[in-house]
Amino acid sequence: MAQLGVNIDHVATVRQARKTYEPDPVWAAALAELGGADCITLHLREDRRHIIDRDVRVMKETVSVKLNLEMACDHDVVQLAVDVRPDQATLVPERREEVTTEGGLDVMGQLDRVADVTKRLQDAGIAVSLFLDPDVAQIDAANSISADAVELHTGQYALAKTEAERMACLIELKTAAHAIQNHGMTLHSGHGLNYKNVQPVAEIAGMCELNIGHSIVARAIMVGMQQAVREMKNLIDRCG
Ligand code: PXP
Repeated sequence: MAQLGVNIDHVATVRQARKTYEPDPVWAAALAELGGADCITLHLREDRRHIIDRDVRVMKETVSVKLNLEMACDHDVVQLAVDVRPDQATLVPERREEVTTEGGLDVMGQLDRVADVTKRLQDAGIAVSLFLDPDVAQIDAANSISADAVELHTGQYALAKTEAERMACLIELKTAAHAIQNHGMTLHSGHGLNYKNVQPVAEIAGMCELNIGHSIVARAIMVGMQQAVREMKNLIDRCG
């Protein structure tokens, strides 16, 4: 059964809108745990537009489930990760002008750099997951540098406008999922997943972790974090 990683970046986005202390993503993480989150995910961006260094450091002390730090191969962020030692780091591409992570990491195009960061993190005892498009060549490259896991980018699937498009995306995801597991890497997925589209992805054989942010925080504004997480967790658990 897939585990649920709750991404709490949007809570920090609201805080940073006023550069104040509330709402605190640390509280959101605690409530997500109470709602059944198996993992807390947070993205420390180079520009610190939402999550800040203090959040990562405090959550390392307060989160009792798995802590997953999304990050680019940026020197300062890698340094902080090695210092704080989250359970897992998910390497993502980052462009300052993007609203959210828009595509998978190009491992093939920067193999030495990603290999170097992967090794530094692993040497610090951090499991490394790479956020990739469902592209078998990129998955082979991830395996060649001994990544522990691959998180498949489900953005295209989430944006599909017709049933035929959605099915085509699912087939791509399943082929990629097979390649990841054939290499012995752990299978994760995320991006754009919500209460309506999560189940077919959760049902993919071998799915271990789903990272979901926007739709859970959006629902949490209306019904509270614990309930929003519990509802998502129930949907995923029904796929087990
Ligand atoms: N996984 C990764 C690697 C991401 O960058 C994001 C967005 O921060 C997510 C999952 C969550 O995406 P969403 O907010 O669309 O659920």
